[in-house]
Amino acid sequence: MKEVKIESTFFIYDSLEDIPVDVQLLMKQAVEAREKAYAPYSNFYVGAAILLDNGEVIIGNNQENASYPSGLCAERTAIYYAGAKYSKAKILKMAITAASQNQKTTNPIPPCGACRQAIAEYEVKQNVPIEIYFMGETGNIAKSNSLSNLLPFVFNKSNL
Ligand code: THU
Repeated sequence: MKEVKIESTFFIYDSLEDIPVDVQLLMKQAVEAREKAYAPYSNFYVGAAILLDNGEVIIGNNQENASYPSGLCAERTAIYYAGAKYSKAKILKMAITAASQNQKTTNPIPPCGACRQAIAEYEVKQNVPIEIYFMGETGNIAKSNSLSNLLPFVFNKSNL
């Protein structure tokens, strides 16, 4: 028997002014997307903006449904839209922000497990790491240089 440790690295920025200017703009678009989220059941609003290597930005937000499981998270809405619209483009960066009507989100809100799995699919497909920045409504911003920090020991096509 041996013990295996997998290390994940994140970077924490104190405020938006500290992140690279292009990501500030990306996060701004994520905020705009968040404000348009359709979340009447959870009152939890999430926005995502994706920068592609062709310069295009694709946004997404959570879309809820009276039949709860039929809804979709912001990150997957965005990444599937990117995959549908620019199937050959590579995803360089993703900015995510979440706000709640119940409490002020002041710490980074990471993508849920299902979204991590979806993002992993594209990272494996394009063989280029995706930078992921995530935040609450205000406060500090977390950055991962690759999805793999968020989903170690991933299941992917190499397992099939
Ligand atoms: N949600 C996202 O959009 N992204 C996540 O990563 C976590 C959760 C949405 C789904 C649902 O509409 C609401 O937030 C509450 O879970």
